[in-house]
Amino acid sequence: MGIKRVGVVGCGLMGSGIAEVCARAGYAVIVREVSDDLLTKGLARVEQSMQRGVQRGKVTADDAKAARAGITGTTRLDDLAEVDLIIEAVVENMHLKQEVFRELDRRCPPPTIFASNTSSLSITEMASVTSRRDLFLGMHFFNPVPVMKLVELVRGLQTSDSTMTGGRRFAESLGKTVVVCKDSPGFIVNFLLVPYLLDAVRALELGIATKEDVDTAIQLGLAHPMGPLTLLDYVGIDTTYYIAEAMFHEFKDPRYAAPPLMKQMVLAGLHGRKAGRGFYDYSTQ
Ligand code: 3HC
Repeated sequence: MGIKRVGVVGCGLMGSGIAEVCARAGYAVIVREVSDDLLTKGLARVEQSMQRGVQRGKVTADDAKAARAGITGTTRLDDLAEVDLIIEAVVENMHLKQEVFRELDRRCPPPTIFASNTSSLSITEMASVTSRRDLFLGMHFFNPVPVMKLVELVRGLQTSDSTMTGGRRFAESLGKTVVVCKDSPGFIVNFLLVPYLLDAVRALELGIATKEDVDTAIQLGLAHPMGPLTLLDYVGIDTTYYIAEAMFHEFKDPRYAAPPLMKQMVLAGLHGRKAGRGFYDYSTQ
């Protein structure tokens, strides 16, 4: 598949990162948000990250400028009708994602490839509302997208071999390493990561240690870059909660049942770093 133009649906934490890495790899990117306000915030996030990339010597000022010029923002799904590949990165909700793909399926010509950045939901179920089930795959990026090297490529029940091959070639052109997995809730990483993160919250609920000591133990004892509670704040407590709920719904396994403290934090709006407060306070950052 000759991919030149990429559409990204959603310009939140993941969508903005995906738009950035695609533009940096030379693709023409159109990113869509639901409102001007969210679009402005998302594009500002791209700008901030590009500046960080320049400061850290990961990208030259000229390349960053060219990448910036390669990104167009829109609030209209119609503007994505001409792209070769669409990567969806909206909220982790099957109904919403299916609605987006149903609308896109009506607007895009038959060869356009559809990919979802879902962390846990079924690719086959999403593809089922479209007329291009063979051209539909999962492309799961990790946060922060410009830094994390992995993409999980997910094969839905009807995804064709050529879609998987093209998806791999595309992800590798972004400088990512690809792993392939079947359409199973949480794929590889979240299948293992989510029970661990939920157990960290349970450790806190049980009073095993303070949040700082839970994080320090994992950071220094296992050489992880972040402890689990810091990572929860980083990924988003709400996002992780929705992923856990989706996985619990599929597996009916208590390992994926979100602990009460997590649910309470979601309801209280303590969603982590992006909200200014989660397990830790970021209000002054
Ligand atoms: N573009 C390119 N490179 C960048 C960059 C950018 N915009 N911003 C930073 N970098 C580079 C830096 O140059 C540095 O590279 P180096 O190691 O070669 O010097 C590296 O990225 C680290 O950057 P920083 O020094 O700014 O940051 P830290 O060293 O404090 O690390 C972190 C920050 C990368 C977030 C690190 O703490 C980390 O890896 N945390 C764990 C993140 C993680 O686990 N993510 C996965 C979450 S799970 C997920 O996303 C799945 C979902 O479904 C839930």
